[in-house]
Amino acid sequence: MKVAVVGANGQLGTDLMEALTAAGIETAPLGHNDIEVAELDSVRASLELHAPDAVLNTAAFHSMPECEADPRRTFAVNAVGALNLARAAAELGVRNVYFSTDYVFDGGKGEPYDETDRPRPLNVYGTSKLAGERLSEVYAPDSLILRISGIYGRVPCRHKGANFITKMIELADRLPEVRVVTDEVLTPTPTRAIAEKTVELLGTGATGLMHLTCEGSCSWHEFAAEIFSTLRLETPLREARVADFPSPVRRPHYSVLANTRLAEMDLAPMPDWRQALRDFLAREHAAAAG
Ligand SMILES: NC(=O)c1ccc[n+]([C@@H]2O[C@H](COP(=O)([O-])OP(=O)(O)OC[C@H]3O[C@@H](n4cnc5c(N)ncnc54)[C@H](OP(=O)(O)O)[C@@H]3O)[C@@H](O)[C@H]2O)c1
Repeated sequence: MKVAVVGANGQLGTDLMEALTAAGIETAPLGHNDIEVAELDSVRASLELHAPDAVLNTAAFHSMPECEADPRRTFAVNAVGALNLARAAAELGVRNVYFSTDYVFDGGKGEPYDETDRPRPLNVYGTSKLAGERLSEVYAPDSLILRISGIYGRVPCRHKGANFITKMIELADRLPEVRVVTDEVLTPTPTRAIAEKTVELLGTGATGLMHLTCEGSCSWHEFAAEIFSTLRLETPLREARVADFPSPVRRPHYSVLANTRLAEMDLAPMPDWRQALRDFLAREHAAAAG
């Protein structure tokens, strides 16, 4: 099997490359210089050149304030990009995998969302990703669509240049106290766990929509508290509310996903978020965590 990774140098793409290589799978790493997902010709040429059996699409425009300000660009990458990959993949007999987000939900349910729950995004980003999901399944009906949440990896998100962990370390170093919200609840998930499970799922031939996050849930403040205590950051960590940080972007206050379809398959469950975080910190921030 040969697998192309779109966004191979991104946060998730880097770990996908590593997991595929570790599994002995041939890869075609595609950076933004190699492929422009918003252009069908570029997508088709790239898939023809590399002739993969599957393509994993991690490309996204996902700086949420910029998405609100520039819906045209957001939809060009997240929705039309998904359409182009689905079209070219279907034409060429390539399996299409699209990574989506917990932000397709509005949070109103207040308990974990499973794959049958009706999405209702609150912002341009979430709406563009939902459009990307739909276009993937319409134009490549065998697509695998994986909704992930609160991701962090050893390579920072390309667009933000950071992840939540490096942000907390930077704020703790710079500020007299750090304030983090208690009223947004999610499931932080390391990209390595997503990547390893994605490789397993490729082996099963799974199609359709699946949720793929760690088990359990926490507020951003609980997530931060675990980072502060494990890394022994001494700056005081204070509780805040979403309303304390006015933003042009509406976000769900609750976006926990239930891995219901995964539980129905004969695969190991995803790790608990806290254990996964501790393992990540021990591996990537060993000196501080020691
Ligand atoms: N961050 C989160 O917490 C989160 C949560 C849920 C879901 N997701 C989803 O997870 C996926 C991966 O996120 P990530 O944090 O790994 O992103 P990332 O670090 O920003 O990586 C995205 C990659 O895609 C490339 N790319 C961007 N626009 C492209 C385009 N138009 N054509 C081709 N390549 C393009 C980027 O290249 P350049 O940087 O060189 O442009 C980069 O290599 C995304 O689909 C995102 O929507 C993220």
